Amino acid sequence: MKKATVRKPAAPKSPPRPTVAAEVPVVARLSPRVPPRQRAAIGGVVASPAQIRRRIHELGRQIQQDFGNREWVMVAVLSGSVLFVADLIREIEGPVKLDFVGVSSYGDGTQSGELVYTKELKLDVAGRDVLVVDDILDTGRTLSAVIGRMKALGARRVRSCVLLDKPSRRVVKQRVEYVGFRIPDWFVIGYGLDYAERYRNLPFIGVLRPEAVK
Ligand code: IMP
Ligand code: MG
Repeated sequence: MKKATVRKPAAPKSPPRPTVAAEVPVVARLSPRVPPRQRAAIGGVVASPAQIRRRIHELGRQIQQDFGNREWVMVAVLSGSVLFVADLIREIEGPVKLDFVGVSSYGDGTQSGELVYTKELKLDVAGRDVLVVDDILDTGRTLSAVIGRMKALGARRVRSCVLLDKPSRRVVKQRVEYVGFRIPDWFVIGYGLDYAERYRNLPFIGVLRPEAVK
């Protein structure tokens, strides 16, 4: 007689746990190489180039593991995440494509404004796994809008990755699977992040001095 085969139920697929570096405890001192004009605007360093590099290496490994070898799409939000995504994608060995969306939430200052799409996606994400990459998660409006857009375009699974997270500022509840650094309510600049389009070129992440806000 044929033996009845008992099928084991498939293990439930749990979403990846958020990976977050320990909270940045103190704002480190500025390197003496920072030019005087920029020095006046910076209150201190949140993450040095070496700390950023190390953390991105860790994030990349984790993302690589989670996304595997099925072709997927990294969608970076312009312009703040450009430096971050350039470094992050180099840590990925699998078959990944890269695209950008332009979303402008800030006018010229530090107050969250209305969302405007300035660049649409070029690649087809239908049926694909997508990782939305942004520089910083603040109120959550930008990320939640972009994730919603990817789902509406038929993405198979959408996850998100931010270099920085300011949980105390959240207005829209938003899940994020990969976080570089969690920070308090500081306005930060450098490594792609701007204040009025300035300071994106700084190789570290610094805190903007309130006196520098006009
Ligand atoms: P959210 O939609 O409020 O989450 O804002 C996300 C966007 O606001 C980011 O992509 C940044 O462009 C900008 N932003 C939020 N906080 C900061 C900051 O501290 N420095 C620079 N840009 C920021
Ligand atoms: Mg941005």
